[in-house]
Amino acid sequence: MKRIGMLTSGGDCQALNATMRGVVKGLYGCFKEVEIYGFLEGYKGLIYGNYQKLSADDFSGILTKGGTILGSSRTPFKELDIPTPEGLDKVKSMKETYKKLKLDCLVVLGGNGSQKTANRLSEEGLNVIGCPKTIDNDIWGTDMTFGFQSAVDIATNAIDCIHTTACSHGRVFIVEVMGHKVGWITLHAGIASGADVILIPEIPYDIKKVCAALEKRTKAGKGFSILAVAEGAISKEVAKLPKKERKQAVAEAAEKYPSVAYEVADKIKQYSGMDIRVTVPGHTQRGGSPCPYDRVISSRFGAKAAELIKKEDFGKLVVMKGSEVTAIPLAESAGKLKYVSADDDIVKNAKMLGISFGD
Ligand code: F6P
Repeated sequence: MKRIGMLTSGGDCQALNATMRGVVKGLYGCFKEVEIYGFLEGYKGLIYGNYQKLSADDFSGILTKGGTILGSSRTPFKELDIPTPEGLDKVKSMKETYKKLKLDCLVVLGGNGSQKTANRLSEEGLNVIGCPKTIDNDIWGTDMTFGFQSAVDIATNAIDCIHTTACSHGRVFIVEVMGHKVGWITLHAGIASGADVILIPEIPYDIKKVCAALEKRTKAGKGFSILAVAEGAISKEVAKLPKKERKQAVAEAAEKYPSVAYEVADKIKQYSGMDIRVTVPGHTQRGGSPCPYDRVISSRFGAKAAELIKKEDFGKLVVMKGSEVTAIPLAESAGKLKYVSADDDIVKNAKMLGISFGD
């Protein structure tokens, strides 16, 4: 008999259910008897002992279902050693729940912060396996996370729809794409939809260069332009400030504008007089059914997690390297982000296509 706990933590994304289904199908293939405990709303469920005992049937018919049947919440890693409002020691409570249920392993579907916590629990002696979840594709050590391609599809579709209106009306549009710290979705969706300007957090922009790119298009007889702007895009002036001042400048801008895209629109208007429209697809990028690519990798990630449990190879994060699904120590990935670099081939290719990064 194997007793496996599972939870989905952090911001949701597509293919969480598909991954859990993969884990469960894999487990039933490996073991005669399996008991699955699903913790509700992420680590909260493990802390407070809120769980449901689930059967294989509960994971049937959920391959294409968005969201997560277990619910999710954020339990910030930096607050892990701060007691809950009720005074519970979070790490101690999680270990107690795990031991009370006599679990053989805990499978954590989560992004960076959640995998840091998974690593902490592994260091505390629990058997843990992580599966790389996030639309941002910023988990260090994996080429791909599940959720990313589905989010790119949605962001691309949003820009495609704006493209036709921008063209009909001869307008300049900004589409704000998710990604506070990293610009992978914006970069991919921007290229996929033929955006003229892509602004991402890793490549700070100079508004004069952005306006120059737009003016170049106007001079070339193009009646419209599209900017794909990540929600964490940052100007060169702000990026070079010391950390404290930079945080303050970002906070002040957040008071003044609903989001970064509106700030960029305002700056363009002030500098060049151009009238800009803003569209923010927001959380639609995390919603709905996973795209076929995500269904495939999440099913493979789930199968790999089951294989690791069978081999009792714990403390691992399932990852994708090239086209191979493999695993690395949780500790190797914990605390690092996979950023876009200005030297990445994909950025150089985009520049060759005439896309401006405003740098
Ligand atoms: O990490 C996923 C993500 O969607 C980011 O792209 C985005 O910046 C953030 O979560 C939004 O978080 P929330 O759902 O808490 O507003």
